[in-house]
Amino acid sequence: MLKARMAVLVSGGGTNLQALIDAQKADKIRSAVIALVISGTPNAYALVRARENNIPALLISKKDCASQEEFEDKLQAALLENDIDFIVMAGFLSILSGDFVKKWPRRIINIHPSLIPSFCGKNYYGLRVHEAALEKGVKVTGATVHFVNEIPDGGEIILQKAVRVLRGDTPETLQRRVMEQAEWQILPKAAELAAKDIINTGKPR
Ligand code: GAR
Repeated sequence: MLKARMAVLVSGGGTNLQALIDAQKADKIRSAVIALVISGTPNAYALVRARENNIPALLISKKDCASQEEFEDKLQAALLENDIDFIVMAGFLSILSGDFVKKWPRRIINIHPSLIPSFCGKNYYGLRVHEAALEKGVKVTGATVHFVNEIPDGGEIILQKAVRVLRGDTPETLQRRVMEQAEWQILPKAAELAAKDIINTGKPR
């Protein structure tokens, strides 16, 4: 069966990468294969997960590049060299420019740990998102998977799942519940949907 080749971009623990790996093993992702992991940071545990699962992995750090352009040129070269069809941003903390994103229309998806359009955009990532949700006192939060366009967290929404905020929650407990009850479930589903669409429309790159 024809499978779309997926690259997963990471920066941290890689629990969402793990959810993708598990879904692939369980045959819940059938239309794609995780062909490459790219980390933006050297010590990301996600790199260990890739290695343990025999997935080719690369470090491409913005800090080692003189400009955003050089960083994105390196990314693009690695993606093309590995015949990548679509990209999953799973906790990747570098924002990609409009110029880069335009090269991959409807071919980049991102997981964000809130119900967009709440608590999203340039300054909202990781624990900060949950701190903001608790400060606001929302009773329900969640996660969103969306296509990536030139507006941070502004692309078309693919899937969302709501999660309750509980009394006594800290940013850490809320983050964990959002991961367990929402992120790890909807990211593999959205990756499969995106891959299926690429295959069905007969447009692997
Ligand atoms: C996840 O909660 C993801 O939603 C978030 O970073 C975490 C990465 O965890 N992404 C963002 O905040 C993007 N704006 P992981 O490395 O364990 O998957």
